[in-house]
Amino acid sequence: MNLGTKEQLLTLFENNKGIFFSGEAIAEKLSISRTAVWKAVKSLRSEGYCICAVQNKGYSLSTETDILSVQGIQKYLEPVCSRVTLELVPTLGSTNERAREMAVREAPEGYTVIALTQTSGRGRLGRSFYSPADTGIYMSLLLRPQQYSAQRAAQLTTIAAVAACEAIEKLSGEPAQIKWVNDLYVAGKKVGGILTEASVALENGLLEYAVLGIGMNLLPPENGFPSDIRDVAGAILKESQNDGKNRLAAEFLNRFLTYYSGSHGCSLVESYRKRSLVIGRTVQVLSAGSCKTATALGIDENYRLLVEYEDGKREALFSGEISIKVS
Ligand code: BTN
Repeated sequence: MNLGTKEQLLTLFENNKGIFFSGEAIAEKLSISRTAVWKAVKSLRSEGYCICAVQNKGYSLSTETDILSVQGIQKYLEPVCSRVTLELVPTLGSTNERAREMAVREAPEGYTVIALTQTSGRGRLGRSFYSPADTGIYMSLLLRPQQYSAQRAAQLTTIAAVAACEAIEKLSGEPAQIKWVNDLYVAGKKVGGILTEASVALENGLLEYAVLGIGMNLLPPENGFPSDIRDVAGAILKESQNDGKNRLAAEFLNRFLTYYSGSHGCSLVESYRKRSLVIGRTVQVLSAGSCKTATALGIDENYRLLVEYEDGKREALFSGEISIKVS
């Protein structure tokens, strides 16, 4: 089978879910033989696609399909994503790692890699991110922002958090919240996280590139979450929705790239604040081996967390190496 045939057939099916095409019509559209059509259908079925075959009608992709694919995501992308090039790899150690490798190999801004599962998914501060197959979205974007300091790079995480909350809300109808600085919550459970990694040029302190990685648990894992995260972790949806994974990935990309390009024209601090899970709460500020109790007062214009310690001292926390625990 020609390498692109399966992908071309998937594009046709994804763009016309529920519509039947005769084998002959497909063969003509894709300029391939009927046998090649049949082989491509068989190959897609082996990947889990539900393709109905009805006599005198032909083949059709079930409207209930919920499988992440480049073709499935592309159909929801808006013009702001015109420079996005998607790569989907079934299994990766870490999509951030892969995007960093591509950055070093001079891949342009917009390179985006998605994995169906990660074997060494990474979280902030050296933690791991549980990335089981087929229930989550694990995605990293390569960005090459101009004239960005390392401090400004941290803001990529915050605009991504707002974009992710909006995408989650659009899909699930449930309010999503942010635990400063990069954790995404729905109904009191962590449903995702963001990890931004950057390479900074020593001579001027400006960013050479940044990799924005996001993981979202769309559905509960088949065997539940592992015991060490069971109390904290949750999923965005209880059950699969038509194209849920592709829509969530695309909704996030559409929003994030709108904010990153600055075309929305206003600060996102207010959107971030209104989704903050921590404002007004007692938090433990963990930094370089110390743990101090404080009250989270607010988020400033630079997305720093304003806290007041028990002795009355106030501080504006920059995400860096700090993490917080909400009591
Ligand atoms: C966190 O919870 O601290 C951040 C989690 C970030 C996970 C995503 S999944 C895609 C990308 N690849 C990784 O290895 N990590 C990020």
